[in-house]
Amino acid sequence: MRLAVYPGTFDPITNGHLDVVAKVAPLFDSCVIAVLHNPNKQPLFTVEERLDLIQAAVACWANVRVESFSGLLADYTKQIEADVVVRGLRSVSDFEAELPMAQMNQRLDTHAVTVFIPTSRDSADISSSLVRQVAMHGGDVAALVPLAVCNALRSKFMST
Ligand code: PNS
Repeated sequence: MRLAVYPGTFDPITNGHLDVVAKVAPLFDSCVIAVLHNPNKQPLFTVEERLDLIQAAVACWANVRVESFSGLLADYTKQIEADVVVRGLRSVSDFEAELPMAQMNQRLDTHAVTVFIPTSRDSADISSSLVRQVAMHGGDVAALVPLAVCNALRSKFMST
């Protein structure tokens, strides 16, 4: 059984992430979307909120599940015996940032191989941080994120 892990911060999950999931889910027996719990960072959404939003967005893929992890990705991939780490590439600058991470992860977990998935052109400008910025200033993010995320962003910024 081939297990792929798609790790990230997902603060929040975007249609760009879902574009990657849609490409990857049919390629593997099982996929885990792994949300990084980083106690040193102040995310907009808690880990629990991110897990719930992702769960709702990926419910249509029976072989995709959602988990959180903390610490090194390589320790997590070893623990769950992942075969593949998936990362989406929107641009050459993404690749430049991702390659050393993939090589370090390969050094730390010699089993799991990183596979880069080019995003669709339509997703190339979508990032969680830009979505947060646009939403914070009252901009329309409906085309960039799933509906539940859109609503969750609205409630976050209405209550601040
Ligand atoms: O969505 P992001 O923020 O681009 O995801 C980055 C992530 C979570 C995949 C990366 O920061 C990560 O793997 N962090 C865990 C700590 C770790 O293993 N660091 C060394 C990577 S070489």
